[in-house]
Amino acid sequence: MRIRELTDDDVENAARLRRVAFGRGEPAPLRPGIRGLGVELDGRLAAVLTINELHQFYGGSTVPMGGIGGVAVDPSARGRGVASALLDAALRDMREHGRPLSVLYATVPALYRSRGWERAGVFEWLDFPLDRMPVGERVVTRPAEEGDLQALHACYTDVASTVNGLIDRSAPAIDLTRALDLDVVSVVPGHDGEVRGYLTAQRRPDELRVFDLVGRDVVTQLGLLRELGSWAGVLDRALLRVTDPAVTGLLTNQAIEYTITTSAWLLRVVDLPAAVTARGWPAAEWLKPASVDLDIIDEHAPWHAGRQRLVVEDGQVHVEPGGTGAVRLHARALGPWFSGMQDTHALRRAGLLDGDAALLDHLVGAPGIPRLADFF
Ligand SMILES: CC(C)(COP(=O)(O)OP(=O)(O)OC[C@H]1O[C@@H](n2cnc3c(N)ncnc32)[C@H](O)[C@@H]1OP(=O)(O)O)[C@@H](O)C(=O)NCCC(=O)NCCS
Repeated sequence: MRIRELTDDDVENAARLRRVAFGRGEPAPLRPGIRGLGVELDGRLAAVLTINELHQFYGGSTVPMGGIGGVAVDPSARGRGVASALLDAALRDMREHGRPLSVLYATVPALYRSRGWERAGVFEWLDFPLDRMPVGERVVTRPAEEGDLQALHACYTDVASTVNGLIDRSAPAIDLTRALDLDVVSVVPGHDGEVRGYLTAQRRPDELRVFDLVGRDVVTQLGLLRELGSWAGVLDRALLRVTDPAVTGLLTNQAIEYTITTSAWLLRVVDLPAAVTARGWPAAEWLKPASVDLDIIDEHAPWHAGRQRLVVEDGQVHVEPGGTGAVRLHARALGPWFSGMQDTHALRRAGLLDGDAALLDHLVGAPGIPRLADFF
């Protein structure tokens, strides 16, 4: 088995493997920001994956992340560890290319869990009846032009930097100009070329698919929702991608029960010291000097396995080798902890953490989603 980086010569063969695996797959050229790894068996390409070089916001800072996609193994090569070996190679590759985090959407969670990825966040679409639109003031919008793209991106990143997990949509992996191909790109202009908010959407036969509804203030957001309401009559519903949870959580008017389609994403901390250094830690400013001694159980990322001490000092957080290893953390615990999806109580109950690690909870400041499991 030979594992190597994909080149332009592999594009057709990689597309064939994906077409067989997923039932679709146009040849997708590699380009800056999108790399591929493949497995050769007897000189033939037998497995592929793509690494998208992205950055996720955590604590207001961007952390380089490898977004894994299109994992496909030739049917005749399955069931003998090819995908597992390819994922191990991807971990080494991402570390060497300075990507301390990795995210993927898993159709086969067992495979990725065995390599240390774990569910750490959601990607959601809200199914929204257009006749329940909140009544806001009309805001002046105009169609976006190419010259608006930077201001539009600035509007997005100002909001995204406050939502853990969202990517910064920076070049070269993300091509902003593609937004202009959509049916609806409405911009709420501000002063001096600034964008107060924007709406991107695509008309589908039975629904409007809204990709972003982003605004810097409530008047802009309600105005954009009002613009969406103009589709009532020809359409019953919009599907609204949850980019800013304030819009779908605080401004739209869904009743007790509503439909959200959720895709879980799995996060893998590829390199703990590098990930901790890159992340923002707003809570650290309020903490007195403290540390927690970890023992990281991670056979697939030996560079950060074993005893590591996480240290809070002068409002900064870093990880250094050593310590007593008092708190045992499985590789799968790192993602949900880092993202704030799960606290240490839940990780302990799942068998992924042993020991007292309250500092880990204080740092990410993630209280979890308040819940009721009883209806009345
Ligand atoms: C899923 C896929 C990539 C696995 O490739 P593979 O080389 O057969 O995987 P491995 O041999 O390394 O399997 C490792 C582990 O993953 C799990 N696994 C693999 N395929 C699985 C499947 N289809 N369902 C459930 N678990 C699976 C098994 O637990 C296996 O552990 P085991 O060896 O103890 O049984 C391959 O079957 C494939 O290409 N499927 C179609 C496309 C697809 O689903 N891709 C995943 C997209 S996220």
